[in-house]
Amino acid sequence: MSGLNKTMVTEFILLGFPNLAQFQLLFFVILLLIYMVTLLGNILIILTTMVDPALHSPMYLFLQNLSFLDICFTLVVVPQLFSNLLTEKNSISFIGCMAQMFFFFSFGTVECFLLAAMAYDRYVAICNPLHYRNIMNRRVCIQVMLALWFSGIPVGTLQTTWLFSLPFCGPNKVNHFFCDGPPVLELVCADTSLFETYSLTATVIIIMSPFMLILGSYICILHTVLKMNSAAGRHKAFSTCSSHLIVVTLLYGTGVLAYIQPKSDYSPDIKKLLSLSYTVVTPTLNPIIYSLRNREVKESLWRTLGRKIIITPSFNTHIFF
Ligand SMILES: *[C@@H]1O[C@H](CO)[C@@H](O)[C@H](O)[C@H]1NC(C)=O
Repeated sequence: MSGLNKTMVTEFILLGFPNLAQFQLLFFVILLLIYMVTLLGNILIILTTMVDPALHSPMYLFLQNLSFLDICFTLVVVPQLFSNLLTEKNSISFIGCMAQMFFFFSFGTVECFLLAAMAYDRYVAICNPLHYRNIMNRRVCIQVMLALWFSGIPVGTLQTTWLFSLPFCGPNKVNHFFCDGPPVLELVCADTSLFETYSLTATVIIIMSPFMLILGSYICILHTVLKMNSAAGRHKAFSTCSSHLIVVTLLYGTGVLAYIQPKSDYSPDIKKLLSLSYTVVTPTLNPIIYSLRNREVKESLWRTLGRKIIITPSFNTHIFF
């Protein structure tokens, strides 16, 4: 590498989806629809859980926080993607790129930990119901939530300051639709093996360990539910647990593939597809599978929206049914 090449990179160009050039508008419309569903679903859940006193238990506070987080998380990425699809101007300033990466990694970390906390909450409620009120009281709940929200800051700070202190000598074209870690790392013109080791460690701690906790929690939940007498309850629990597990696996699986080996040889298109999955798909599915399939939330939603419905008493073990 010649010393002359060491020009300062002051802005980045986000290439977005060059292979979809002819379908730019169609792609935009599809994403816009998905994004509106995400916003609407999450806002509805925040409002319902705020307004209805019946939904002030820890589980719904977690759900409310998840919805709020999903809105923040998508706000970091999706508007940028829209402007990229609609306008010719695809540049982002150096600072802008840093800020985007900081918020993306911070919120992403909170999301991974929050989903684990939610699974653990259900584990205690179902497998250890006698101690639930002691373990998950309001104070603990608030402390857990604060710890979760603040856990993102060191991760985002470390990732961003480290990566952007490495030298960039051009080209400045990020082959991605936002400033994610791996595509920016590819533009670094220095030895990045130490950073890659960090990335591997962080992926194990932030993505794989919460996933193991979730898996463990669901195994215990299923074990308990299988001993229940009601066949309908068992069936419902199975379908709930499996839909949670599918979405969770999608999030953590694509996350692991993207970050465990940030300079991997997958084609850029595969990487973008992976990213779309954890930036767009998961935040859309979360409110649907965690809340809108839940009887209490549905009933509360109708109450809040001013409809009177007949509430039929039912078996309910509160696995987000
Ligand atoms: C998040 O959780 C905390 C603590 O349980 C709660 O007080 C707050 O209302 C929740 N919602 C949001 C949107 O942060």
